[in-house]
Amino acid sequence: MKHLLSAGDLTKEQAIALLDLAEDMSDVNDREIKKLPTLRGRTVVNLFFEDSTRTRISFELAAKRLSADVINFAAKGSSVSKGESLKDTAQTLEAMGADAIVLRHSSSGSAHRLAHTDWVHSAVINAGDGSHEHPTQALLDAMTIRQGVSDEPRGRDLAGVRVLIVGDISHSRVARSNLLLLKTLGAEVHVCGPATLAPRSFTEAEHLHFLLDDAIRIVQPNVVMMLRVQQERMSASYFPTEREYSRIWGLNKSRLATMDPNTLVLHPGPMNRGLEIDAASADSKNSMVLDQVRNGVSIRMAVLFTLLSGGSN
Ligand code: CP
Repeated sequence: MKHLLSAGDLTKEQAIALLDLAEDMSDVNDREIKKLPTLRGRTVVNLFFEDSTRTRISFELAAKRLSADVINFAAKGSSVSKGESLKDTAQTLEAMGADAIVLRHSSSGSAHRLAHTDWVHSAVINAGDGSHEHPTQALLDAMTIRQGVSDEPRGRDLAGVRVLIVGDISHSRVARSNLLLLKTLGAEVHVCGPATLAPRSFTEAEHLHFLLDDAIRIVQPNVVMMLRVQQERMSASYFPTEREYSRIWGLNKSRLATMDPNTLVLHPGPMNRGLEIDAASADSKNSMVLDQVRNGVSIRMAVLFTLLSGGSN
């Protein structure tokens, strides 16, 4: 594996190997000295053209825990504001010695473009490209689900696990990558949202629902994954009011009480508390939100290790 561009590029065996390796990395993260010498002398560039808290910081931490050097690039405050292109920016950073480029960009397909032209020769990791994909998010979500449904997560797939992804499906790279990866791992994946945000064209091969209460009753999910309403990607009005969205598609305490008490609640963050999820649900015993963040570091260590150490995965 040279790059990680799409969750759909992973075979079931590759995905399970990455999840198992992330479990090993998680053991390192529980040690007093959280460091391995594995990537000493290698350089990871975090090339972020869009804002991020979790993804950027966890890639930085992951690289540092593997003893790599890290360069953090944010478009804000850089020569991008003077008109420098993605190609010139990436080539400039590679000329300084980058072995891997972690790219977040608002344009769908940007990571593929970087990887599949002769612009750069580094490993490219897609850290979110527009509304298209966010493969390491899907991997950390799968890791969290595997831990939540099994005391012995290593080696297992997600066969028999029912996952309900809820909300702004259209704009969600998290939903798209999760659909690909969770299905590869054998989960039964359903999506639910307003018709304006969960179009049939996106989900024609999927189980599609338009009302959350109906979806919960029909699916009886083991996992409910709430998505952020991405107002910044909306050019029109997709639902009547925030109050209406929250009433029909939001997760709240009383709706959570209608589900199995062991249902796992996931959210990729950042959360719009009071819109797609209320505080009681976000902070409930069902909530895996902080487990997702913790697992993000382990998954990104596993991905960097696999791409940069010359492993066979
Ligand atoms: N989940 C996620 O990608 O969060 P950030 O935008 O904070 O990186």
